Amino acid sequence: MLNVSVIGASGYGGGEVVRLLLGHPEAHLRHLVAETRVGEPFAEVFPNVRGFIDGRTEPLDPAAVAADSDVVFLALPNGVAMSLVPQLDDRVRVVDLAADFRFRGAPAYERWYKTPHIAEALLEEAAYGLPELHRAEIRRARIVGNPGCYPTAALLAIAPLLRSGLARPTAIVIDAKSGVSGAGRAASSRTHFSEVNENVFAYSTPGHRHSGEIEEELRLLAGEVSFTFTPHLIPMTRGILATVYLQPARAVTREAAEAAFREAYGGEPFVRVLDGESLPQTKATLGSNFCDVAVRVDPQSGTIIAFAAIDNLVKGAAGQAVQNMNLMCGFPEELGLRVPGLFP
Ligand SMILES: NC(=O)c1ccc[n+]([C@@H]2O[C@H](COP(=O)([O-])OP(=O)(O)OC[C@H]3O[C@@H](n4cnc5c(N)ncnc54)[C@H](OP(=O)(O)O)[C@@H]3O)[C@@H](O)[C@H]2O)c1
Repeated sequence: MLNVSVIGASGYGGGEVVRLLLGHPEAHLRHLVAETRVGEPFAEVFPNVRGFIDGRTEPLDPAAVAADSDVVFLALPNGVAMSLVPQLDDRVRVVDLAADFRFRGAPAYERWYKTPHIAEALLEEAAYGLPELHRAEIRRARIVGNPGCYPTAALLAIAPLLRSGLARPTAIVIDAKSGVSGAGRAASSRTHFSEVNENVFAYSTPGHRHSGEIEEELRLLAGEVSFTFTPHLIPMTRGILATVYLQPARAVTREAAEAAFREAYGGEPFVRVLDGESLPQTKATLGSNFCDVAVRVDPQSGTIIAFAAIDNLVKGAAGQAVQNMNLMCGFPEELGLRVPGLFP
């Protein structure tokens, strides 16, 4: 049994880590750390876990967390983890849900997050936590930079098509829609009910920060790449649907594209390649760690259209973080995670 602590446990990502770990047979929850919501009964911070947790949220004490924990999840605003991780003992494994450990070098982080990286040396110990692309590296890593929610969906839609050489790595268009929980728990005018309800809008385009990690990962897959990424906010709580348009490298049939997806994900525990006429829908992944993918070819233009649906808080954050903990700690990858989502 591992002692596990969550820093940022009062936020949406941290709260979801706690919910999932309550069903994990090898995890014992130790410290649940908050910032402004310190000292509150956890079951009041997250009423869904009433009856499962008696404790209260604690203030941050890095020495106490390090002394009592085998694994620490950090679910904090970007830029906080890199000041905290150096204060944790080297023995402690870390999964960071923010962007601090997602990049392979400080310059890329600094370009996209407009702030100096103050723990550059630790980036060498970190793996990018997308198991479908970096499983072996994650198993060896002490620190995992858990991917962003949009990059998880976009990369899982694109990777089979670049790996197989069916699609060109240039002029890729990623059109993605997210529910509002992707913006975190703190209120803002952009995520205010009155402004999101019965509304759909694009934002932070071009140049959304998730473009940085998408670019880094696509380059590893295919060298020089070019893409356009446009995120949209839609009036629902959870879920991301990414629809990706790629130009074929040669004449491509739907059968060939589907075969590439089946080859890439046939053995993957959390990627479901939809067959027949089914296309991914966010509701089918709600509350689960599954990513549903499918691919089509437009007979008129030859354009390949790849789809991926996830729950942004599970495969896009906390579920993938627990999947990474399982890999880092030598547990079966699906431990505590293999449950279907809610439907409807
Ligand atoms: N939401 C998603 O779908 C999603 C998906 C993938 C990745 N992420 C990433 O995961 C991280 C957490 O996101 P979230 O959605 O969970 O955010 P959130 O709901 O706003 O929660 C933020 C958490 O961090 C704590 N906190 C805030 N400022 C802090 C500080 N200066 N020092 C220490 N703790 C601080 C908050 O504590 P109090 O509540 O006590 O103030 C809260 O527990 C972010 O980096 C985000 O980009 C989020």
